[in-house]
Amino acid sequence: MNYRHIYHAGNFADIFKHLVFRMVLAYVQQKDKGAFILDAFAGIGLYDLASDQAQRTLEYEGGIGAFMKASFANDDLRAFQELVRQDFALKLYAGSPVLAAKMLRPQDRLIANELHPEDLIDLRLNLKGTQSASVTHLDAYESIRGHIPPKERRGIILIDPPFEKKEEFLLLVQQMAEWKKRWETGCYILWYPIKANALTQIDDLYAEAAALKINRTWVSEFMIRDRETPEGLNGCGLLIFNTPFQIPERVEDFSPELTDALGGSVRSFYL
Ligand SMILES: C[S@@+](CC[C@H](N)C(=O)[O-])C[C@H]1O[C@@H](n2cnc3c(N)ncnc32)[C@H](O)[C@@H]1O
Repeated sequence: MNYRHIYHAGNFADIFKHLVFRMVLAYVQQKDKGAFILDAFAGIGLYDLASDQAQRTLEYEGGIGAFMKASFANDDLRAFQELVRQDFALKLYAGSPVLAAKMLRPQDRLIANELHPEDLIDLRLNLKGTQSASVTHLDAYESIRGHIPPKERRGIILIDPPFEKKEEFLLLVQQMAEWKKRWETGCYILWYPIKANALTQIDDLYAEAAALKINRTWVSEFMIRDRETPEGLNGCGLLIFNTPFQIPERVEDFSPELTDALGGSVRSFYL
């Protein structure tokens, strides 16, 4: 396990993932009934943008740096700025479990799962004191299988693997049918990188996801370069099962302002 998210924290791909994650969570919380949130690949939860690692790549400058400089008219973009403003003033960036923790109501339940033993220690510290949140140390796919269907019967599973293994796409595809069998109505948000050497795997992912015929299976991709550019992360995608109503329309609404601020383009489609 060599992947450390600190090198990438707050980059364009984090912004896109976290923007949509916030919107989906806020949507689920429109009902009073408690929601279940499982962050299966949680990371450490809070990233120091002044750290040597973050300073080495400076990826956050084209992400949260550019995002916080912009002034937006769109409500979802403004809401995200508000959520992260205090941390950003301290040169910190909250990862998905801490963002969820900030939004958690007493009736909600967050499980943040992380396999890396050192990251686990930081994650525990960063979620300390958050009631209704707990941290687990399991393989992500084992954790998902063990928690679905949740007793709340409504909620979100965030699946954000590091993709350091070549077979990560295959692993995902193998798990999806199981998720459907156990909890077909769950909202699953799956993040994936878009690199030139993985375009076939991405096409396979679409095909396998479509074949499951889960309700409202929707994809949204944020590209900062052409898909075929040989080196590096050209973009990222979110594949969502049971996409909540309004989310595709709201992503379409915020996209022009987001791409004005960060560059690139967004394209979305149902599978
Ligand atoms: C992309 S990062 C997560 C970022 C986080 N979701 C966020 O948005 O702030 C992926 C994390 O998964 C962890 N990880 C890698 N393999 C795992 C596995 N099999 N099960 C659980 N966690 C794993 C890594 O240590 C890393 O912290």
